[in-house]
Amino acid sequence: MTNKFELYKCKICGNVIEILVSGDGHPVCCGEEMERMEAKNDNQNSVGLTEKHSPIIEYDSDGNVNVAIYNHPMEDAHYIMFVQTISKDKNEAKIKYFYPNEKVQMSTDINGDSISARSYCNIHGVYLNQ
Ligand SMILES: [Fe+2]
Repeated sequence: MTNKFELYKCKICGNVIEILVSGDGHPVCCGEEMERMEAKNDNQNSVGLTEKHSPIIEYDSDGNVNVAIYNHPMEDAHYIMFVQTISKDKNEAKIKYFYPNEKVQMSTDINGDSISARSYCNIHGVYLNQ
């Protein structure tokens, strides 16, 4: 059984997929069941990471919603690959991809009072805003 917006990763090839519509089956890649990625937040860094992964949601006076990550490497070997905003009712989502040396910043027009944001680091996985 899958649920909308769950993320799964293939342990063999590294494919990452998102569930758009829930179903009874389990995603398979490279002949094996994919691993569901649990979202963490920066307060759960038991290994003492100094970089920050959880997206920060900021609201400006015009009602725009901006999402950013300020203290994370953006190097070839370690970087934030995407940030996604999702409305709390799970009826709207926006995703932006990032590449090494870029700033991790995006805006969204999803209703500002009711969004969550998550990031995906190529090394450390999925993080939710706090
Ligand atoms: Fe990281």
